[in-house]
Amino acid sequence: MSFDSVHRQFPNSRLRRLRRDDFSRRLVRENRLSVDDLIYPVFVLEGSQQREAIASMPGIERLSIDLLLEEAAELVELGIPAVALFPVTPLDCKSLDGAEAWNPEGLAQRATRALKAAFPQLGVITDVALDPFTTHGQDGIIDEQGYVLNDITIEALVKQTLSHAEAGADIVAPSDMMDGRVGAMRRALEEAGHVNTRILAYSAKYASAYYGPFRDAVGSAGNLGKSNKSTYQMDPGNTDEALHEVASDLSEGADMVMIKPGMPYLDIVHRVKSTFKVPTFVYQVSGEYAMHQAAIANGWLSEAVILESLTAFKRAGADAILTYYAKTAARQLQERG
Ligand code: PBG
Repeated sequence: MSFDSVHRQFPNSRLRRLRRDDFSRRLVRENRLSVDDLIYPVFVLEGSQQREAIASMPGIERLSIDLLLEEAAELVELGIPAVALFPVTPLDCKSLDGAEAWNPEGLAQRATRALKAAFPQLGVITDVALDPFTTHGQDGIIDEQGYVLNDITIEALVKQTLSHAEAGADIVAPSDMMDGRVGAMRRALEEAGHVNTRILAYSAKYASAYYGPFRDAVGSAGNLGKSNKSTYQMDPGNTDEALHEVASDLSEGADMVMIKPGMPYLDIVHRVKSTFKVPTFVYQVSGEYAMHQAAIANGWLSEAVILESLTAFKRAGADAILTYYAKTAARQLQERG
């Protein structure tokens, strides 16, 4: 049968019609990434004029508070709504119980005060967990066997939470995975009059090898050694359990929930968002960043993977994304117009 035959077969539908031109691709695009979706994690150092590269996270630096303020000016300029602070605790401030975590003059607390004073419009998220402060690198207080004790740890996390709120943190983000910590934190915040301090719960946080570069960045890798966090972070094989975690954190008073890592766990993002329909955040973690950066540096992948990976989070249902690419993505979005 020839092509111009009147009996020629036509496809029933031609989905390529709408893909033909940029204008129609734009009109039918279902999910969009915007700068409003981005949160930039930053590593904070002691001292002044201190800037350190992180070998496993090319392009990301640890910064002292004075340089962090310069960075924050850039973030505000780019329109990035919030930062997440991760202090790099000097070795001599680490202890078995991680008491530095609730020192009102600790690095996270000072960085929070400095940021809120200089840029009140920039949201400040602080990490609630003990791992940057413990000599053993675990997120909580351990017994003689090295097992992380839940309820004693919560008492420490509550003190840490209050010190962050007092320093002016807008959002406290427990990343420790203790049972019942959100409820305890919420109660303590209410009692202390911090009724508007938001809780972003790392609800479905998996025991993941993708956190390796982060542990280098905050300097907890050496403390943790060969131990892992499998007795409190989630098993990568589980899905239903993530929903259970989210349900508990919401009932205890979380304002937002988070899934972490990101790209390998998009199914969890989708299921959490479609089940609960609450603000659902996702963390594109250090290992995901390292993989992308390595491939881009080698010319194996083009920089276009950055916005593609972030758009995938939106498609899965994420409302906001913690990403080391926040600045790069904001710039790329600006260029795209
Ligand atoms: C600490 C914490 C971790 C991350 C955020 N908060 C590491 C861990 O649980 O070991 C990981 C972030 C990343 O990999 O980018 N509680």
